[in-house]
Amino acid sequence: MVRVTPSWPPLSPRVVHGGPDGGPPVRWDFSTNANPLPHPPALTEALAQADRHRYPDPAYAALRRQLGAVWSCAPERVQPTSGSSEAIRRLTLAARLRGIDEVWLTWPAYGDYAAAAQALGMAVRHHADATGLLNALVDEAQVGRGPVLVWLNEPCNPTGASLSADVWHCLQGAIAEGACIVGLDRAYEPLRLLGDDPVPAATADLCWQLWSPNKALGLTGVRAGVVVAPETDALDGAAVRLHSALRQAFGSLAPSWVLSAEGVALLQAWWLPETQSWLAECRATLLETMQTQRDQLSALGWVHRPSVVPFGLSRPACLAPEAMPAALAHLRTQGIQLRDTTSMGLPGWWRLSTLPAPAQADLRAAWLSLPEALCHTPSAGPGSAPGPRPLTSHTVSNEVQA
Ligand SMILES: Cc1ncc(COP(=O)(O)O)c(C=O)c1O
Repeated sequence: MVRVTPSWPPLSPRVVHGGPDGGPPVRWDFSTNANPLPHPPALTEALAQADRHRYPDPAYAALRRQLGAVWSCAPERVQPTSGSSEAIRRLTLAARLRGIDEVWLTWPAYGDYAAAAQALGMAVRHHADATGLLNALVDEAQVGRGPVLVWLNEPCNPTGASLSADVWHCLQGAIAEGACIVGLDRAYEPLRLLGDDPVPAATADLCWQLWSPNKALGLTGVRAGVVVAPETDALDGAAVRLHSALRQAFGSLAPSWVLSAEGVALLQAWWLPETQSWLAECRATLLETMQTQRDQLSALGWVHRPSVVPFGLSRPACLAPEAMPAALAHLRTQGIQLRDTTSMGLPGWWRLSTLPAPAQADLRAAWLSLPEALCHTPSAGPGSAPGPRPLTSHTVSNEVQA
């Protein structure tokens, strides 16, 4: 008898995240991007009043109408999700079922985009930047390649960077020509501290926009999000057929009651005037707090990459990349957790969220307690300085200011 061994697609490795890591509780968690400021009473009350005794409306009709009004779009385009992680998996599956076999990303990126594709046996193509990705889309469309699923995160996790409006204009053309469908991850738009959203409304309308306010609202334990499907009126031919088929697949792949009662309450409370004005205050506070945090770390010899959101990439200039895991482990023993971005495609950097003054003081103290030997690594690059240094030592300034 011939035994047939099925050839399963390789499963993707576990995605690494910040936040709880199975170790002892941390005093200060700089490793997730959640807003650390206390919630307004309206939000706390809305969650407390979520009706846990009944199923939510399986069609989420009122919620979809409400959110449709916020974004001036038809309620049918608004699809509740149990958070953007779920939405990433579901959109990738819908794309796969509709014949798309490649996922394109700019790298570094949030790990779930590639993991979702790999779990479904799809090829993943990493691009160094959005311009390279766009050029490749044009080149490959010319030789007859079918559409690919592109993921873009604006503003980007982990870099905190924002793409230019030009990139978005070009992308609009590529979508209209049927070269790609775009998952536009808006996870951090409500936490944008600097500049404006660069995505033109007409481009956003052609993307699958993923929203999940739990980070901005500092409630990442509430699993809730929403996807706004593209407006297909502006498309024609194959592009409109593809997007309609995807919208149908995306809706029918959702489990019943994908969003919990708390999730519904969170999405509704997000748009209360009180929540919105609290968020505006948070942005102003976080901008100031982030600058202080970065200045203090710069004085200790750390360098930073620019960021438009309250998290960003930093590293101590004196540490060689190979010494970074030990330094991170040392900080962890001092109750401080930072996020190593190696798994997101950026070795040699840490991602730090912005936390208030007591957390900054403890980070500073923990850094100053680092064994000196770690900072004397021979391969530390130019501009490196030996050992953790006190605030008064100003030998290395910010590589760039946020
Ligand atoms: C860029 C990005 N997208 C999506 C998510 C996941 O969001 P959710 O908590 O809604 O699943 C995260 C979480 O960190 C993220 O950083």
